[in-house]
Amino acid sequence: MIDEIANSDSIAEVVQAGLRAHPKALPPWLFYDQTGSALFERITALPEYYLTRMERQLLHRHAATVMQIARDHRSLSIVELGAGSAQKTSLLLRAAQATERRITYLPVEISSSSLQTALLHLSNEFSTLRVQPVLADFVRDSFRIPTAPHDQRMLLWLGSSAGNFDSDDAIGILQNVSEEMSAGDFLLLGLDLAPDCTPGGKQIEDILRAYEDADGVTAAFNQNVLTRINRELDADFSVERFQHAARWNSATCCVEMHLVSTVEQNVSIRALDATVSFRIGESIHTENSRKYTPAEGRMLLREAGFTAVRTWLNADGWYGLFLGQREEG
Ligand code: AVJ
Repeated sequence: MIDEIANSDSIAEVVQAGLRAHPKALPPWLFYDQTGSALFERITALPEYYLTRMERQLLHRHAATVMQIARDHRSLSIVELGAGSAQKTSLLLRAAQATERRITYLPVEISSSSLQTALLHLSNEFSTLRVQPVLADFVRDSFRIPTAPHDQRMLLWLGSSAGNFDSDDAIGILQNVSEEMSAGDFLLLGLDLAPDCTPGGKQIEDILRAYEDADGVTAAFNQNVLTRINRELDADFSVERFQHAARWNSATCCVEMHLVSTVEQNVSIRALDATVSFRIGESIHTENSRKYTPAEGRMLLREAGFTAVRTWLNADGWYGLFLGQREEG
């Protein structure tokens, strides 16, 4: 068993700070308790949630080329940030193994239950792969990649997960994590793309639909954060009095998720010895999901210290894969 690392102290701190702030906000990592991780897995299978499907398509088409470009005589360590259940990663791992190199896969996760699922899934499919799970918070802790010193490294940050941060924070995380990488190492970034709003192109509505699905799975995912606070901080949120909303912010090029109070109400959070009041229509901002233009995606790579080597977009330019190579020094 791998231990959970998120402790209730840090949850208390972020909830206290976030619900005192104006406007109220909570960090998106709070979504991913066991229920939230399962709900997210369901989101990735929704017809409206094109991101996962399109990324898988791109990986399916281009994984072999990625591994060809990265071809090297050394062993390869593939480090995946926020690996989740590592479903899509199999496509890359299979392509990597086809190059007949020795491959070590290092999924980095904050959630031990996701890591367990990933391990199970991979040991069924790959009998010879070396898997070294890393339970770590690469966002908040300074993080060393535990790879063999002479391996070539490929860092994966897929699923548009970088979009949860503003660009400066995403660059900071990449700089941090890649500090010990060497010239020639690679980074593969999967990013959801900005609307282009030309006729036939990706519209803002297409993006919003992915965050407001018909079955209400995303609503449940968003509201689960309140259930988690009820459980872990002895609070009394009535989940049905907070309505899920997805909004497009054109200034930041982000989809925002909110929980909107449908009534005037007070909520008590006993572990914090606090009462929080809400006006009608007041919201808790729970997530930003930043959408990048292809040029901005390449800029992100460059500012993190990587040369943009290749970009693959799916046919309509809805989703992109960005391959970068680490520069000297
Ligand atoms: C896992 C952060 C990429 O922003 O699309 C899915 C999370 N939120 N539906 C995203 C999410 C609402 C997802 N990321």
